[in-house]
Amino acid sequence: MLKNFWWPLEFSHKVTEKPLRVTALSQEFVMYRTPDGVAHTLSDLCVHRGGALSGGWMNGDCIVCPYHGWEYTQDGACTLIPANGRDAVVPKKARVDAYPTVEKYGYVWAFLGDLPEAERPTMPDIPQFANPDYKITRGIFEWDVYYERALENSMDASHAPFVHGGAFGNREEPEIPDYQVEHYPYGGMMEVTLKPPKRNFKGLWNRLYDENRPGVKTRAWFFMPCVTILEVNLPMGQLLLVNMHIPVTEEKTITKWTSLRTFFKGNWADSDAVKRVFKIFNQDYPVVLEQRPELLPYDLGAELSVKSDAIQIAYRRMRQKYIDMGWQIDTHRIATEFGRQQAVVIPSPARREVPELANAWVLKEVPTKEVKRDA
Ligand code: FES
Ligand SMILES: [Fe+2]
Repeated sequence: MLKNFWWPLEFSHKVTEKPLRVTALSQEFVMYRTPDGVAHTLSDLCVHRGGALSGGWMNGDCIVCPYHGWEYTQDGACTLIPANGRDAVVPKKARVDAYPTVEKYGYVWAFLGDLPEAERPTMPDIPQFANPDYKITRGIFEWDVYYERALENSMDASHAPFVHGGAFGNREEPEIPDYQVEHYPYGGMMEVTLKPPKRNFKGLWNRLYDENRPGVKTRAWFFMPCVTILEVNLPMGQLLLVNMHIPVTEEKTITKWTSLRTFFKGNWADSDAVKRVFKIFNQDYPVVLEQRPELLPYDLGAELSVKSDAIQIAYRRMRQKYIDMGWQIDTHRIATEFGRQQAVVIPSPARREVPELANAWVLKEVPTKEVKRDA
């Protein structure tokens, strides 16, 4: 789980003026809108006694902790400690981490890290969202798997004939043509033409059909830290499945997906479109659930990769680059060094941007995986 990226934590329509708890990267966040409609993300951990701000309510622009009523602005600064009296000065230390928040593609994205604006990685460019030719449906799929196993599965071409044979892919023709990974900022893409599934025509009809059927041009992208896009070009049009694989913890992922299609654009076809996405996820789930190790190995040699796995290798290499930059949250150390007695949070930009606040942070930062550098 990487800090210093934009994470599409929640669907826009889920974030309202009623504070919402979102658990992601084993951390608690609160997402809400101020009365001007703007979405915000704070650490959901009141620095007073660790109350959950998400259990509270809004007072104008401020979110009120439900335990002792401390009020925080969208910048994370506490402006009122009721027990001290209305006129009391609020100490600088009374503040929580506030994460830059933007809305794009129907999701609320939070920048979970402390990089200054100019150094932050960008979000993926997905122009289809603004294109009225696409009909959109959305949903979530919850699975008890690590998000990177889910992410790799979403762009894995060679499993299709075996796990989804019949829906797409064809077990009698499972070869994946050679492809080159195209590199994008913070991501990569592969394109292959796959054999369509066999039709259930008998005998001669089957052969006649099979000889003329066109291949299905398929593309798969990944974008750091958790986005995959699958583009399938069917005879009737294009289907795009955008997956945001949000790690709740190391054991659980919620994939917040959007499907975009250029065919059957009436509302009448929505429930069928949704059903098809769930069918695919439900075929993948039992297979991904049994993968061991549960987490994605760091060592590229720990699993045997072949040429059709090039897109996953590109992902693993890119991930390694950010681990080497010290961006990987060390969940093992959180458990062993901090445990259940000391909360840690992902540092927000204010920790670096505002020098006067250097000592203002009550909660420690999440440890990151140690970067081995040559002596
Ligand atoms: S725990 Fe939030 S006000 Fe006391
Ligand atoms: Fe799959």
